[in-house]
Amino acid sequence: MAMKITVIGLGYLGTTHAVAMAKVGHQVIGIEPNQHRIDCLVQGKAGFFEPGLDEELAAQLATGRLAFKQAHDEFSRDADIHFICVGTPQTAGSMAADTSYLESAIRDVALYLREDALVVGKSTVPVGTASKLTAQLAQDTGFTAPNLAWNPEFLREGTALEDSLNPDRLVVGVTNSRSEELLREVFAPMISAGVPFLVTDLATAELVKAAANAFLATKISFINAMAEIAEVSGADATQLANAIGYDERIGNKFLRNGVGFGGGCLPKDIRALIARAEELGVGESVSYLHEIDKINLRRRDRVIALLTKELGSLQAKKILILGAAFKPDSDDVRDSPALGIALLAKAAGAEVIVHDPVALHGVALKHPELELQQDLLKAFIGVDAVVLATEWKEYRELDPKSVNPGNKFIIDGRNVLDVALWQQAGFKVLALGRTITN
Ligand code: UDX
Repeated sequence: MAMKITVIGLGYLGTTHAVAMAKVGHQVIGIEPNQHRIDCLVQGKAGFFEPGLDEELAAQLATGRLAFKQAHDEFSRDADIHFICVGTPQTAGSMAADTSYLESAIRDVALYLREDALVVGKSTVPVGTASKLTAQLAQDTGFTAPNLAWNPEFLREGTALEDSLNPDRLVVGVTNSRSEELLREVFAPMISAGVPFLVTDLATAELVKAAANAFLATKISFINAMAEIAEVSGADATQLANAIGYDERIGNKFLRNGVGFGGGCLPKDIRALIARAEELGVGESVSYLHEIDKINLRRRDRVIALLTKELGSLQAKKILILGAAFKPDSDDVRDSPALGIALLAKAAGAEVIVHDPVALHGVALKHPELELQQDLLKAFIGVDAVVLATEWKEYRELDPKSVNPGNKFIIDGRNVLDVALWQQAGFKVLALGRTITN
């Protein structure tokens, strides 16, 4: 049955969730204090690059089931569920997550909350946050036992809408049966399509998300650690990943070695887990995550070392970085390995040119010191070295004969190029985790 829902916080997570909830038939109001975001959303524009999202956003606006507002109003009093999707960024000068946006979202919704309605947190949070927010909600509403649940979101950028509509699993942390009933009702279309629905307590649901991201980051850093060994021993980390991946207990996903992980989630979430475990007195349990973070960042240094070895010094050398987004099909440059490498090369004295099919606007704002080039063929002209740092289709499919660098030298930071093809076009090719004979 269609329910009335608010979705609070309209970033990647909230925008996608609001569209997905409207698509399955609910009446949804998205709430976001930033008027510029609202102006953009009401015109059917998500405001960030996510394949298929703008089209579905426009389609749902047209049904009348989806609307956006700057603040709660009477609709919120009628709403059955309020999903909180605000950001929990890394706190400046600390590894911990900043939960202040959640606290203010709770304060705002408390003024409109019916006692039988449910507040559901979707943001990624340190374990223990939900019970603190329940206490805050009780104080702000005067209800003795307000309904607050936690439903972590596992969507990936680039496939966000599909992941929201067809998740691997739904995890809901609840404290009472009323909350579970409402969540079963709101997710009924997914549950009846066979999506596993896992009911836990609040702490477990919070920790599931942190654990999933820590595990994924660990897998990537594991293969990158093997790549470090491969690089000094002549082994090939891509063949190694393929070979161990046949073992079903290991699996072949998330074992692509390269310049490492970035984005708004994995780096910040492992750091937040370290900080929370330390607060809880069990820092040692995840102290290995420090190494996971370090292995990941060392991959960027490895690219700089390879460039320096090839070019002698980076001083005044022209280096083209292919990619700025942390992964393809996204314009998100948060903690992006590609951008990290660009900045390291710049700091080493190079003239750095960055190309990306969609993410340059975000770079322009943050890093005016980098030269940005939107035309891929022009970007190559006269450069001394090229680094493929984000595996966009444009780069994978690029004909090396069509480009005209000053020096034909490329580092494949994602292991996606056809080495023989590039070599035939006269390029010296190096790759991470492999020794290539040129
Ligand atoms: C991640 C989680 O996958 C998702 O479940 C969670 O909700 C949010 O965080 P996302 O940040 O969109 O999603 O990206 P993901 O696809 O996980 O990739 C993260 C980073 O790891 C990217 O920079 C990617 O390039 C890198 N990566 C991924 C590798 O370096 N090697 C791999 O094998 C896989």
